[in-house]
Amino acid sequence: MPAHKPLFSCRTEWELSPNQIFTTLENLRKDNVTVFDLTESNPTRCGLNYPQEIFQSLANEGNLQYDPSPKGSMVAREAISHYYKTKNIKVDPAQIFLTSSTSEAYSFLFRLLVNPQETVMFPRPSYPLFSFLGDLNDIKMDTYPLMSENQWAIDVVQLKKNIHPATKVLVTVNPNNPTGSCIQKKELEALNNLCAQHNMALISDEVFWDFASERREEAVSLAGNDAVLTFTLGGLSKVLGLPQMKLSWIIVSGPEAVVQEAQNRLEVIADTYLSVNTPAQNALDTWLSLKDSIQDKIITRLKHNREFLMTKIQSVPNCQLIPSEGGWYVVLKIPNSQTEEKWVMDFLTQDNVFVHPGYFFDFQEEGFIILSLLPKEDVFSEGVRRIFQRLERD
Ligand SMILES: Cc1ncc(COP(=O)(O)O)c(C=O)c1O
Repeated sequence: MPAHKPLFSCRTEWELSPNQIFTTLENLRKDNVTVFDLTESNPTRCGLNYPQEIFQSLANEGNLQYDPSPKGSMVAREAISHYYKTKNIKVDPAQIFLTSSTSEAYSFLFRLLVNPQETVMFPRPSYPLFSFLGDLNDIKMDTYPLMSENQWAIDVVQLKKNIHPATKVLVTVNPNNPTGSCIQKKELEALNNLCAQHNMALISDEVFWDFASERREEAVSLAGNDAVLTFTLGGLSKVLGLPQMKLSWIIVSGPEAVVQEAQNRLEVIADTYLSVNTPAQNALDTWLSLKDSIQDKIITRLKHNREFLMTKIQSVPNCQLIPSEGGWYVVLKIPNSQTEEKWVMDFLTQDNVFVHPGYFFDFQEEGFIILSLLPKEDVFSEGVRRIFQRLERD
């Protein structure tokens, strides 16, 4: 008998059985137990009361026309250019490429910039989707550490050490998920120097940019960074809390000649998929005009939940809130008297509260849990009250 070649690709050889935490969660839900989900970050499940104009603007006869353009329609790109103008950032519509999601934007860029087995450097800790994006695009992932004494910052010395000849791209998440840390002016100078020196490109994921808390004075957006080839990502899933509309974007900036070459090649990739739907592109201008009203609701929710947490944490001396400058999440340092896994399982099984352990986000050390600040106020406050009660007993 001839030896069978494997039916599936190596890149999809993932461990797919659910871990203990998710199995327990699923069983609780099957038994109709009310679980206080403090990981919920799907804004459409958080009772935010979106404006009616969002779906009214979909009743547009133009949605029956298909007039594809690789970069996305000019009206949609002009709307994004205007959105940046309101933040005093100059972005020409010609620099903008639409994609159906930020994850797709990453894939396009890895295809544009990285050969199989070359390396992309991501911040650590950061959000877990990166490892799948890496596998799916045949790239090697490496990390550079974010350190926190009382404020997260890039460990530039270690970053330099981790760069090797096959490193093609540095990724920043600004603000980062889940640490909420932003890129400071000084850090950007260091990143630009390293990219120029080692012929690397920068990708800055700025989906959470509009959600600043105690933003550091020196925090900078990379949109329009012209020192090196830079791709800045944004999208409706966070900017307007509309992940279901599937519209994100890439802004290309940098030295003119390389930007032109990047745009020419990226246009072929985008033209191959033409993945952004027409109704969302036609409605984008109206949707972005609703930005302040939607963001006010999200920001009020984040602020309320953060303030509740800060008041309550004062009575829990063995738990510390790590300061953040933005985003939708908080990182809590909890006692090392037992593992994160055990804490998270205790919260789930004893208190029916679901939080993420730090290791989901690849924290370098044990002893962290991550909470989303987006759940409804009553869910958040009851969940926090329960986990703090347990921590106080430790
Ligand atoms: C930092 C960051 N970037 C990108 C994404 C994915 O965004 P999209 O829904 O546009 O793919 C997420 C999702 O949570 C995220 O946290």
